[in-house]
Amino acid sequence: MLYDPKSGRMSPPRGTAPIRCALMGGGPGREPPAETEPLIQLIRTRYHETHRREFPQAIEWAFKLDEHELANHLAFMLEDLDNHQQREEQVLFPMLLAGGGPMAKFPIGRMMAEHEAVEDQLVRLRELADALRPDAGVEWEETVKLCRKLDSDLREHMRLENEVLFPLFLD
Ligand SMILES: [Fe+2]
Ligand SMILES: [Fe+2]
Repeated sequence: MLYDPKSGRMSPPRGTAPIRCALMGGGPGREPPAETEPLIQLIRTRYHETHRREFPQAIEWAFKLDEHELANHLAFMLEDLDNHQQREEQVLFPMLLAGGGPMAKFPIGRMMAEHEAVEDQLVRLRELADALRPDAGVEWEETVKLCRKLDSDLREHMRLENEVLFPLFLD
C-alpha cells in the first residue's frame, strides 16, 4: 500500500491488483465467473419455462385419458417443482449473479437434495408412463412421448445445475 498525498488515503501500488482476502471467498460485489449469466439464462428459458408449460399440458392429457394416478403424480411433481424453481429464481440465482460467496453453499446444498427427491419422483413417473398403452390411440402415444420428454428435460436440467453451474461456487 502507498500513501497518496493527493487523496490523503492509502492506495495499492500502481499496476497491482487489489489484494482479496482468501477467507472472503467471493460475495456481493465480486464478479461471478463469466459463464454464470448465460448458464442461468439458459436454465430459465430452456428448462424452467418449458417445465411450466409442459407439465400442465401433460396433466390435462392424462386427466382426459382417465389416467388419474398419472395426472395426480404429475400435479404433485409440478407443485414441488414450481416451488423449487421459484426459490432458485428469486433467491439462489440472484445470489450467484452477485458473486456467490461462502453462504451460497447452503441454498446450493438444499437444491441438490431436492434434485435427489425429483429423481425418485421420476422413477415413479416412468413406471406410470410405461404402464400406458401407446397402441391404444394417438392421445396415449402423445402422452407417453410427453412424459418421456419431461423426464429427459428434467434430468438434463438437474445435471446442468449440479455439474456445471453449482460447482462454480463450491470451491
Ligand atoms: Fe432449476
Ligand atoms: Fe434445481
